[in-house]
Amino acid sequence: MLKSLYIHTIGCQMNVYDARRMAAKLHPLGYQLVADEKKADLIIVNTCSIREKAEQKVFSYLGRLAGLKKNKDNPILAVGGCVAQQEGRKILKRVPHVNLVFGTHAINRLPGLIRAIEKGQKRLVDVEMLAALEETEASPQTFEKPAISRFVTIMQGCDNYCTYCVVPFVRGPEMSRQPQAILNEIKILVGQGVREVTLLGQNVNSYGRKENTTSFAALLKMVDTIEGLKRVRFTTSHPKDLSSELISCFGSLEKLCRHIHLPVQSGANRILKRMNRKYTRKLYLERIAALRQQCPDIAITSDFIVGFPGETDAEFGDTLDLIREVGYDGLFAFAYSDRPLAPARHYHAKVPETLKKQRLQELLSLQNAITLRKNKENVGRTVTVLLEGLSATNGSGQQWSGRTSQNKIVNFHVNEDLQKTRPAPGDSVAVKIEVALAHSLKGLYRGHLQDPANKGTHHAT
Ligand code: 5AD
Ligand code: SF4
Repeated sequence: MLKSLYIHTIGCQMNVYDARRMAAKLHPLGYQLVADEKKADLIIVNTCSIREKAEQKVFSYLGRLAGLKKNKDNPILAVGGCVAQQEGRKILKRVPHVNLVFGTHAINRLPGLIRAIEKGQKRLVDVEMLAALEETEASPQTFEKPAISRFVTIMQGCDNYCTYCVVPFVRGPEMSRQPQAILNEIKILVGQGVREVTLLGQNVNSYGRKENTTSFAALLKMVDTIEGLKRVRFTTSHPKDLSSELISCFGSLEKLCRHIHLPVQSGANRILKRMNRKYTRKLYLERIAALRQQCPDIAITSDFIVGFPGETDAEFGDTLDLIREVGYDGLFAFAYSDRPLAPARHYHAKVPETLKKQRLQELLSLQNAITLRKNKENVGRTVTVLLEGLSATNGSGQQWSGRTSQNKIVNFHVNEDLQKTRPAPGDSVAVKIEVALAHSLKGLYRGHLQDPANKGTHHAT
């Protein structure tokens, strides 16, 4: 019998990937993904606890779902992900209409848990953590609609224990997948039409270190040889583990995109130390310089936390100063919030909420100006765009959308007369940039390109 499944994902790309694993695991039980939660027999809320706000979102969404319950067992309501791992059984108490709580290591056990509930179990909790990583046997996502770009998790968990962070507690210790399993998964995806993969981990730079298999740079080199794949990206990198072997990949690998996300969190050494980041501002800047030496037009993005306990005005000033010095292509910034289990919750000199908000605004408006300036550098250039799909159809024809190697979104119109080849998702095309906006670029279609999709993006014409 066919049953419908709705997954509501909050949080990072790891959760997006996990949502696909959940759907793949439940497919053999007859569950088909639907886009409307009202039609679902099973609703999974895939949760995030990285910041207080994300966790609040989870509980307000769960609250709203009460209205969808026809009775106690229908639809089945399951809570997975980081808040599930963190709160466990407490969720059952707090949200009476939840049937199942399953943690970050329970995805492979999900079919058994759902079956038990279908057979009449009322409420279950499984937040057991595994000592070793298990491969998902389900073949990747043959039932999904095709996509050009996919995430592939290469490792789980984190051993870094940054003092503000809940991840090591809710995702467990770092564990890397076997290189062969990763390569096989990518090959299957490419067979399904995927042209770009983003390798995912909390700290991909330490991939394979514990298992003593291959380094992350060595894995990248293997991925780079996969036929039919056009682009490779990865996230996230911890600056302390950014090896020179990896840095040199940006100069040598054909498919590796010219973009790195390198979260720095703060520009002040004392704060970095209190955060347990294990690098200094100087070391971070040296690594940025080395990256730019290998790849002069590499796009650099980062994460920042403002208002970490004890952060002074001068230290916040150091952060602004670092942002100016690096000239990021974009960044994510967050107001610090205390997290359960993360040691910084006990740190003194908490920064008042109003001051955190003020610092956040100041930082973001500085970056907005820099992002726009960086985007404007592209005006007049012809860039290579990997087409993702149509973004609009209007009076002036079809508007297509894709990304550059530097991960900038480009929208462009295809003039029907000019068009020799009909554009399709996954194609590499040349686009001449005419307008730079705050979050995207606009340009003119200049024709199709031979692969790979990664070269020639910086040649001005
Ligand atoms: N408060 C605010 N931001 C946080 N992050 C992680 N933990 C916290 C916290 N307790 C941010 C960091 C990290 C990003 C994913 O979330 O900047 O890089
Ligand atoms: Fe959290 Fe630090 Fe690990 Fe990133 S490296 S997941 S911030 S503990």
